[in-house]
Amino acid sequence: MKKIALITGATRGLGFAMSEKLATLGFKVIMACREEKTGKISYQKLKDKGLDVVFEICDVEKISDIDNLYKSVSEKFDHLDVLINNAGINIEPATTKIENIDLKLFEKIINVNLRGSLYMCSKFIPLLKKSNDARIINFSSGLGQLSVPRMGPYPSYSISKTAVNQLTWFLAEELKNTSVKVFSVDPGWVKTDMGGPNAMLEIEEGIDTPIWLATEDSNNLKSGFFYKERKIIPW
Ligand SMILES: NC(=O)c1ccc[n+]([C@@H]2O[C@H](COP(=O)([O-])OP(=O)(O)OC[C@H]3O[C@@H](n4cnc5c(N)ncnc54)[C@H](OP(=O)(O)O)[C@@H]3O)[C@@H](O)[C@H]2O)c1
Repeated sequence: MKKIALITGATRGLGFAMSEKLATLGFKVIMACREEKTGKISYQKLKDKGLDVVFEICDVEKISDIDNLYKSVSEKFDHLDVLINNAGINIEPATTKIENIDLKLFEKIINVNLRGSLYMCSKFIPLLKKSNDARIINFSSGLGQLSVPRMGPYPSYSISKTAVNQLTWFLAEELKNTSVKVFSVDPGWVKTDMGGPNAMLEIEEGIDTPIWLATEDSNNLKSGFFYKERKIIPW
């Protein structure tokens, strides 16, 4: 039977590339897109290639969209094998200091990157538990890593990604006696709209570790850890 994966932020960047890759590898992929018009164009591109993809709307900033997504997905499918919380934003100026932080931007970043991922997990855990080999892959970032010297600017984004790591850690403990494993992933600095043209990695390289986490024999993966380049890295 085909494995089923649900990917947030599937319209472009890493989310779109992972949708294509997992569908190519034989998954049924539910592409959850923030916006209907652009999302449908991305979905149609994969449909035209003969890939098994399903289109859903979900702006993860909106609680009601996540509720509706859960309703729609659980009506169509009796389980879920992979949830990839990929949707993310980094919309504050690089020069932002806590001293002059714009709380509206802070709240938006936290609501998309952290609350969106957390509530997606919360809603979909029952459906994931119905798979005998389920994974949640939370997109974090090197900017959320506490164990390395300060790497860059963007306080709100960094704080949101550190908190995503805590979500992974916490949830893995909560789910330790279930069939659901939970991972954080740092894709590296990737040439997407977010990463920009000077980034070090091509998109194909950026999706390597999350795709591996979604497809590798789960006996080789440790739930509740932070992965980069197919290895566990310090928090
Ligand atoms: N690129 C990097 O160097 C890098 C490094 C570390 C971590 N990451 C993480 O990797 C993930 C993907 O990043 P990316 O580089 O692919 O970014 P991107 O090119 O900017 O794409 C972001 C994706 O997220 C979607 N999105 C934004 N806000 C959303 C919302 N409220 N609800 C649902 N979807 C939403 C976008 O959809 P729309 O097209 O509708 O806006 C788009 O599909 C993010 O979590 C990011 O933090 C990226």
